Amino acid sequence: MQAYHDYGLWFIIIFGVVTIPFLLFIAAPYGRHMRQGWGPDMSARLGWIIMEAPSPLGFAYVWYTYGGLDAGVAGWALCLLWQVHYIYRSFIYPFRLRGAGKRSAVLTVVMAIIFNLVNGPINAYAIASLASHLTDPWLTDPRFILGLVIFGVGFAINHQSDAILRNLRKPGESGYKIPHGGLFKWVTSPNYFGEIVEWTGFAIAACTPAAAAFAFFTAANLIPRARSHHHWYLDKFPDYPTSRRSVIPGIL
Ligand SMILES: NC(=O)c1ccc[n+]([C@@H]2O[C@H](COP(=O)([O-])OP(=O)(O)OC[C@H]3O[C@@H](n4cnc5c(N)ncnc54)[C@H](OP(=O)(O)O)[C@@H]3O)[C@@H](O)[C@H]2O)c1
Repeated sequence: MQAYHDYGLWFIIIFGVVTIPFLLFIAAPYGRHMRQGWGPDMSARLGWIIMEAPSPLGFAYVWYTYGGLDAGVAGWALCLLWQVHYIYRSFIYPFRLRGAGKRSAVLTVVMAIIFNLVNGPINAYAIASLASHLTDPWLTDPRFILGLVIFGVGFAINHQSDAILRNLRKPGESGYKIPHGGLFKWVTSPNYFGEIVEWTGFAIAACTPAAAAFAFFTAANLIPRARSHHHWYLDKFPDYPTSRRSVIPGIL
């Protein structure tokens, strides 16, 4: 498992580095950017379940197998945050999606499965087996407390923004409208902003290379996609608010 962790860490970092230029020019084929020419497609809802599920399941397996059961309170708290996020994303979020009959490219789903088969397990292993600092004194360390607060803020922003997007459609609808409310006042993709904040907070609270690599990858993946969303809105809606940035309020 040590080798899987070490190679996996490099895989996440290199994947993130390669992702930035790639996604700046080519939007990943799912959601509004779904299009022909990327091979077979599949139900978007099923795609979400099978691409995200390896993360909580892989995390749980490695947690159980490599010492997680003996972790202290700080380790268990991080395990809980991971599982709350990913159990929701894998098994609840897909059933709340609106957008009748939406499809995703199988290629996108396969790449996400591979990513999650690495990311979940190496993060579990890092916390359960490698992080000797995650003992009781860590509970009062400013990095742990600040990280948890940042994670909570990001989680709230992500969920609020996803709820605003979900409620733009009535059941059975699949079109697009201009979202308003919450952080949409400042950015096009506050759900992505929340996700980036969330995993940055997790990385600060965990202080493991695996968590830092995942926070980096999340930003590398979602900042270019938010730019694609932003340009898409500007093309489709002549009255789209030009004061909005793509993803980071006031900055980007
Ligand atoms: N950690 C990571 O690297 C990572 C990667 C990807 C996603 N995520 C998270 O997963 C969640 C979903 O991601 P996503 O890429 O699908 O987000 P998204 O493009 O913002 O779409 C979210 C949902 O809202 C719908 N929607 C978006 N804009 C809309 C509009 N203007 N009018 C009506 N409906 C609209 C989408 O429908 P359509 O699908 O029909 O467009 C989709 O069902 C987010 O919380 C994101 O942060 C995380």
